[in-house]
Amino acid sequence: MYSEKVMDHFENPRNVGKLDDANAIGEVGNAVCGDIMKIYMKIENGIIEDVSFKTFGCGAAIATSSMATELVKGKTIEEALKLTNKAVMEALDGLPPAKVHCSVLAEEAIHAALKDYSEKTGIEIDLPETKQKFDCASFHKAQSETDA
Ligand code: FES
Repeated sequence: MYSEKVMDHFENPRNVGKLDDANAIGEVGNAVCGDIMKIYMKIENGIIEDVSFKTFGCGAAIATSSMATELVKGKTIEEALKLTNKAVMEALDGLPPAKVHCSVLAEEAIHAALKDYSEKTGIEIDLPETKQKFDCASFHKAQSETDA
């Protein structure tokens, strides 16, 4: 059901934990399903020098957070803004359809961290519109209605 890359990032997640010298923090999630993701970034001169995450959630959310941090590390703010959940999934060789929504959490946590950075520093960042309101509760409700 899961690719080897997903299993690898789930079992050995990269960049886990709190970044003590972070100057940008983004938190997104849904308290109803219990899946919360927090991304920490250290940004210097427009470059994401370091990044880490803490995810309280399902395996797919952990694997996508891990891969997303790998993909934005060392990148510019503009490059990080272009990272989509689709690109994260591709880098993981795909996710089962029922888990695609989990990958949105990583993309939105990155955007939330960059928004935080923009607010703290006054540096203008052209944030994209939130792709979809992340809502695990309605997702699971919709799923159970489909399954019924
Ligand atoms: Fe995976 Fe909610 S993020 S089930």
